Order: sequence, then structure tokens, then C-alpha cells
Amino acid sequence: MKTYRIAVIPGDGTGPEVTGEAVKVLDAAATKFGFKTDKTPFDIGGERYKRTGETLPESVLADIRSFDAILLGAIGHPDVKPGILEKGILLQLRFELDQYINLRPVRLYPGVETPIKDKGPQEIDYVVVRENTGDLYTGVGGFSMKGTKDEVAMQVAIYSRMQVERCLHWAFDYARKHGKKARGVGDKNTLTLVGKTNVLTFVYDLWERAFHEIGKRDYPDVARDYCHVDACCMWMVKSPEWFDVLVTGNMFGDIITDLGAMTQGGMGLAAGGNINPQGVSMFEPIGGSAPKYTGQGVINPLAAICAGMMMIEHLGEQQAADAVEKAVKLVTGTKLKSMAAGRMGYSTSQVGDLVAEAVMKG
Ligand code: IPM
Ligand code: MN
Repeated sequence: MKTYRIAVIPGDGTGPEVTGEAVKVLDAAATKFGFKTDKTPFDIGGERYKRTGETLPESVLADIRSFDAILLGAIGHPDVKPGILEKGILLQLRFELDQYINLRPVRLYPGVETPIKDKGPQEIDYVVVRENTGDLYTGVGGFSMKGTKDEVAMQVAIYSRMQVERCLHWAFDYARKHGKKARGVGDKNTLTLVGKTNVLTFVYDLWERAFHEIGKRDYPDVARDYCHVDACCMWMVKSPEWFDVLVTGNMFGDIITDLGAMTQGGMGLAAGGNINPQGVSMFEPIGGSAPKYTGQGVINPLAAICAGMMMIEHLGEQQAADAVEKAVKLVTGTKLKSMAAGRMGYSTSQVGDLVAEAVMKG
């Protein structure tokens, strides 16, 4: 029987609760579809940092490199200064494991309320491919005369041609395979580059040139479109049905996927994958650790469950992933009263049970 070795990082706040439900659903899918997951927990996060001062020890990172995939709950602690855990753990994992794609589907499931009037699951159904290693996230910059009235701070958006090209290739491939002709020109699937070529005339000029060069040469079957990031935010609200597959840099991708998450019913539903196509990938609910709900059993585990679904799809268990998605849709469409923490009509673990049962029943 095929066995996948999974590193599980439950993390902080409600991370452990939602990860537990994701694991429950994975176990159901594995039983039903005939594979095994061998799970190893890693104690990484705010609590460990407070206890030992460590974020991501070298030995843990070395260990994690040997796994087939990583399932992450949430990282973030109210007592730890912002930036330390994010940079020291989450971004460190993404960079060290060279997870250069951050795949974030924006998909409205049946029964889920969206703040966008008159739009439903038909209209809100696209994916964002966020580059995940470069841009303002590289941490290049600094202060001069810090603390004085002449203080200067700078932080630089950096992209190499290699980073841009590998991301674009992956996005074009994804659009070719999974696009849905939503905005297809003729009958082609569409890849939309999201940039800011009118102001960021260096970085997004590089993106734009590479986009058309690669698209023209290697993906004539995929239609190319472009929009500025500010206009993109407008269209995501006004006409989300226009979008099929979007590709963008790290910073814009971070921002527009929170907007996208709200349109798909909020942080309780949004999942993402940090993908290294040749290496170890990591899957996570994109919301935070929600410390105020910790231990109450009220948080929505569906985002974590969907992260698990993306993980098994990535590992090649397409049928099992499809079954989990079907089960999630059944639960959102026919069971939950609301997606919001405390208002689901079920506890966190009951929601996990509902999805797991639906997977088993098929
Ligand atoms: C995300 C988060 C992270 C990011 C933070 C926590 C570093 O907002 O995954 O979108 O900015 O990438
Ligand atoms: Mn974010």
C-alpha cells in the first residue's frame, strides 16, 4: 500500500484544533481510497519560541526535508512581537524548502455566504498563483539613522529572471491543465498576469516581458491577459467570473488572496499550498492562529481540511481529493448554518466528523 510520510506542524492558537480535523478527514480518505499516511508531529511555533528561544532549529528543518509533504496549522502568538515567528518559521520554511509557488484557490462552495451580491459558486471560482520566494519578502533593506528625525527606512522588491520564469512556467502549465475557459479568448483557458506596470516599471516590466515571451513560445493554447493589481481588486468584487488563473508577485499575491478569501466566505474556508514542484510542499489554511478562540471548539476547520485535500491532490491521490471536496461541499451546502466561528451550529470536531463521514459514504 502506498504510504506518504507527512510532517504535521499544528502550531499555535487554534492551529492544533483545525489540524486535528484535517488529519481526521485525511485518515477517512486514506481508508476509503487505499493509501496510508504516516504522520510525524513537529513542535514548532510560538510556545516553543517562548520556552526555548528557537524558531525553526536547523535539526528540525533537516528532518522535515525528508518528508513527502507538510501539513501546517497556524503560526502566530499574541505574546510574541510580530515578525519573529512569521519570518523565523513560516517564511523560513517557504524559502529554505524553495516552495516557490503559493497556490490559492478562490472557490465559493454551495451554501456559503459571500459578501458579493448576486454572485454564487458559478461566478466565484478561480485560482491565484502567487510567487512565494521573492519581492518585498526577501528582507533586503534597512534603516539609516534609526530613531532620529532624519531616519530613513527602505525595503526592496527583488525579482530575478529565474524566479519569474519558473513561476510563470508553472502558472501556464496550471492554466493549461486546470483552467476552465472562464474568460477564454476563443476557447482557450486564460492566464492573467496581475502587476503594476504603470508604476513598478522595473519589476513588473520584467514580469510582463517574460510572461509574453514564455506564453507566445511555449503556451500558444493559453490566452494571456493582464491587469493592474488595483483594478484586479475591483474586478474580483465586481466581476469575479472573468477570472480563470491569475499569476502575480509575492506581495500583491498576499494582499489579493485575503480579498479573495473574503469573497469565498472568509478565512475559515481559504486554503493554500506552498509548492516546490521538485521538493517538499507545505499546505495550510491561510487564516491565522485566531488565539481568542483557542480551545473552545468553535473554530471552522474547513480551511485546514481543504489544505489537506490540496495536499493529497498534490501527492497524486486525485480521486481521494475529489471525494474530500465533494464531502466539504455537502457539509457547507446542507449542514452548516454559517461559516463563522461559533455560529456553525456544530463544534469544530463535529464538522470534522461530518466531512469524514461524507467521505466514507462517498
Ligand atoms: C500569508 C501570511 C504570511 C504572508 C505572513 C504570516 C508572513 O499573511 O500566508 O498570506 O505574508 O505570506
Ligand atoms: Mn497573507
